[in-house]
Amino acid sequence: MSSEQDIKRIKELQAELAEHNYKYYVLAQPSISDFDFDMKLKELERLEKQYKINDPNSPTQRVGSDLSTDFRQVTHKYNMLSLSNAYSQEELKDFDNRIQKIIGTDDFDYVCELKFDGSSISLTYENGELVRAVTRGDGVKGDDVTTNVRTIQSVPLKLRGNDYPENFEIRGEILMPFDVFNKLNADLEKAGEPLLANPRNTAAGTLKMKNSSVVASRQLDAYLYYLLGEKLPEDGHYQNLQKAREWGFKISEHTQLCKNIDEVFAFIEKWDSERFNLPVATDGVVIKVNSRKLQNNLGFTAKSPRWAIAYKFKAESVSTILKSVSYQVGRTGAVTPVANLEPVHIAGTIVKRASLHNADIINNLDLHLDDTVFVEKGGEIIPKITGVDPAKRNPNAQRVKFIEFCPEPECKTRLIRKEGEAAHYCPNEDGCPPQIKGKMEHFVSRKAMDLEGLGKETLSLLFDKHLVKDVSDIYNIPNNEDQIVGLESLKEPENGLLLGENRIPVDRLLFCVKGAPALKHIQSLLETYSKSQLFDLDTESIKNSLNIKTDLAENIQKYFKKIQRVKRVVLKMSENENSVFPSVVLNEIGGISKEKAELLEEKYIYYYFISQLKQKEIEEISFLDFFEKARLNDFLNDKNIQHQKLNHLGKNSIQQKTFDNIVQGIEKSKEVPFERVLYGLGIRFAGETVAKKLVKEFKSIERLQTATIEEMVEVEDIGERIAESVKVYFQNEKHLQLIGKLKIAGLQFEAQEKESSSDQILNGLTFVVTGNFGSKVIRENLKLKIEELGGKVSSSISKNTDYLIAGEKAGPEKLKKAETIGVKVRTKDQFEEEFNINQ
Ligand code: IVH
Repeated sequence: MSSEQDIKRIKELQAELAEHNYKYYVLAQPSISDFDFDMKLKELERLEKQYKINDPNSPTQRVGSDLSTDFRQVTHKYNMLSLSNAYSQEELKDFDNRIQKIIGTDDFDYVCELKFDGSSISLTYENGELVRAVTRGDGVKGDDVTTNVRTIQSVPLKLRGNDYPENFEIRGEILMPFDVFNKLNADLEKAGEPLLANPRNTAAGTLKMKNSSVVASRQLDAYLYYLLGEKLPEDGHYQNLQKAREWGFKISEHTQLCKNIDEVFAFIEKWDSERFNLPVATDGVVIKVNSRKLQNNLGFTAKSPRWAIAYKFKAESVSTILKSVSYQVGRTGAVTPVANLEPVHIAGTIVKRASLHNADIINNLDLHLDDTVFVEKGGEIIPKITGVDPAKRNPNAQRVKFIEFCPEPECKTRLIRKEGEAAHYCPNEDGCPPQIKGKMEHFVSRKAMDLEGLGKETLSLLFDKHLVKDVSDIYNIPNNEDQIVGLESLKEPENGLLLGENRIPVDRLLFCVKGAPALKHIQSLLETYSKSQLFDLDTESIKNSLNIKTDLAENIQKYFKKIQRVKRVVLKMSENENSVFPSVVLNEIGGISKEKAELLEEKYIYYYFISQLKQKEIEEISFLDFFEKARLNDFLNDKNIQHQKLNHLGKNSIQQKTFDNIVQGIEKSKEVPFERVLYGLGIRFAGETVAKKLVKEFKSIERLQTATIEEMVEVEDIGERIAESVKVYFQNEKHLQLIGKLKIAGLQFEAQEKESSSDQILNGLTFVVTGNFGSKVIRENLKLKIEELGGKVSSSISKNTDYLIAGEKAGPEKLKKAETIGVKVRTKDQFEEEFNINQ
C-alpha cells in the first residue's frame, strides 16, 4: 500500500474504533465482537508505529504508559463551585419559592439528575479534541490528570459529529463502578493486602496514580453533567446534555425534565430506592433550573449557583457495639471523647470510631460500655452516634463517665469546664504534651510560619527526645545538628502505622517471636497467601515463593508450625483485617485478663510493646512474664524507660538533607511578617483575620501587649471575647518569656512599614470588589493591588465606598445599591485604565 493509503487507513481505523468505543462504553450497545475490535486495534497500533504517528487522542493511547505522570497545577477557567444541600422537601420548596420570586414566574422547567458520588473532573475540548482534564482541587486550581483520563474508555478523545462548539468545558464525575471495585477488593483480599475503603476514594486515588497503565486497568467510568462555554448550542441545559451525548459523552439516561417541584419530588422518591440498582454510587439528586438564560439571571453566591441544589439521600444508619471511649486533647486543651466501635460497614466504608463531641452528648445518650449504638455517616467525614438501644443493654453495664483528669499520662491535670461552654479543658497549657505539640504544629503551619520540612512527626519526635520543649526551641534546632541528624523517627513506613495508633500489624506480630524469619519474607508470604494458609504451608511452596534455599524454607515452615498461640490470634482476624489490638495479643498470648489487657492498652503500653517487638527480644513464652513485670505505674512514671525504649523504634531517620531543609526553612521564617507570627502564637480566638487587624492597628508587639480591652474593641471586628483572650495571653509570664526568646531568634514583631501612603494613587479611596473575574486568584490579586496602592477594600457597600469594581455576574442588589448611593461602578479593565495600573 502507498503511504498515502496507509495514512488514510489510520484515520479510518481511529474513527471506526472511537465509534465502537462509544457504542460499547457510552451506549452499552456494542456492534462488533471483542476479537474484531482487538484485531483492528492491533492493525492501528502497527500502522501508527510504522509511520511514527503520535496522536495523544488516538484509541491506541487508551492503554496508558509506565512513564511517570507529573500533575501540573492548572487554574480553572471557571471556578469549580459546589452545590448547596437540601435534606427535606421543605428545603426544596424554599428553593423553588426563592427561584420563582427572583425570576417572577413559575413557568420554567427543572432538570433532575442523579448526584454521582465520585471525584469531580473538568474536561476541556478544543476543535473537538480533548486537551485537558483537571481535578477539582480547591475549586480554583486543580491537578492536570489528562494522561490518566485518556485511559477512561467512556471519555471521548475526539468528538463525534460537527456541531460542537470550538471551545468548551464539560464537567462531571469520575467513578469506579461497584463491580470493578468489588473485584479489586476481592483480589486484594486474596493477596492478604489491606482493603480499599470505598469506590469514591479509590477513583480519586486512581486518578492521581503516576502510572497511567495501571489507571487503564482500573476501568474507571465518567458521567458528565455540566457544560460551560460561550457558544453552547441550546438554551436548555437538558437539551445541551442530549447534544453532548451525541458528541460522544456519557450522559446519564436517568436525567429528567420536570415541570414543577412536585415532579421533582416524584423523581427523588423513585431514586431513593432505585439507586441501589445502579452500577455506580450516588448520594442524592441534583435539581437545576433548565434554561441557561434563567440560570444567568439567578447567578451565584460565593460558593454555589442559585439555580441548582443537591438533595441528599438520608444517611444510612447502622447498629454496632460501643467497645470503649477514649479521649483526645487538642491544641487548645479541649478534650474530645471518641467512641471506639466494633467495626461496621456504613455507606461503603468501614467505621471503627465515632465522635462523641462532649460530656453532654454522652450524658444525653446515657451511654454504657458494650451498648448497642446507632451510627450514621452524613456529609461529614467522622461518623456520629445518633442513638442507643437500651433494650439490648446488659444490666451490669458500666455507665460511661467523662474523665476528670487529663488522659495524657504525663499530664493528668484535673480538667475544667468553663461556664456556658460544652467542652472540658485541660488547663495545663504549657505542660501537657499534646497541647504543646498541637501549638507547635500550628506555629509551623503554612498560614503561620510556613516552616517546610518540619512536619507533625518530626516535631513530635524532637519533642519526645526533649530537643524542642516549646515553640521557641524550634529556633535552636540549627544548633543541635549533632543530636538531630540520624535521629530515628517513629513512623513505620511499610504499613503506615504511626505511634499512637494502637494496633499491631500482623507482619510485626509474626516477626516478634524468637526465631522468626526476616520481616521481608513474612511480608512477602502475607502478600501471596491468606492468613490461614500461612501456618500450613509446605517447604516447597515457601521455597518457591520466596526464592530461597531449602534449609531456610524448612526453618520458616517449622517456625509457622511452632507459633501456635500467635496463630490463634492471627486466625481470629478476618481476611480483611491486617492488624490487631495489643490487648488481644496480651490476652491471648500473654494470658492477661481481658480487662487488664485493655487497661494496659489504653495507657499507651503500646509504646513499650512495639519497641520490644522491634528489638525482637521477646520469646513467645515470655509475653506473660514481660507484661506482668511491666507494671503500669512503673512504666508510666519512668520516663527513662519510655525514652530508652523509644530510641529503638525507628527505621526512618532524619537525614542530613532533611535537616538542612529545616534549617533553611527556619532562616526563611525570620522574614515572615508580624501578623503571621502573631497568628502562629495561637492565641485563642485570634485567627488570621484578627491577627491582621490587630497588627494593622497596634503595629508592634509591645504596643499590643499594653493595649487595653477598650482600645482593642475599638478595632473593627474585634469583640470583647477576643480582646479578653489577647489580654489574658499577655498576662502570662511564660508567654512573655516565649516572645522574648522569639525576638532574640530574630522573628518579626513589628508591622513592616508600607511605602509612605500619602503619595500612593489610591490613598483615601475605598473599594468594593464583587462578581466573577474568571478566577478567585484574579479577584484576590486585584484586592491586594488596591491595598498595595494605598486603597481600602471593604466587603459591603456603604456611603464611604468610592468605587464598586464589578466582575461578571455581579450581584444585582449590590449594583442597585451602588447606583442609589452614587458609588462609581467600574469593570476591572476600566478601573485599571482609569488609574493607569499595569497588571
Ligand atoms: S452540578 C456549579 N450535577 O456534586 C455546580 N454536580 O456539591 C456544578 N455532583 O462538585 C455541579 N453529581 O462533584 C452537578 N449531576 C450533578 C452532580 C454533581 C455529582 C458533584 C460535583 C459537585 C458536587 C456539588
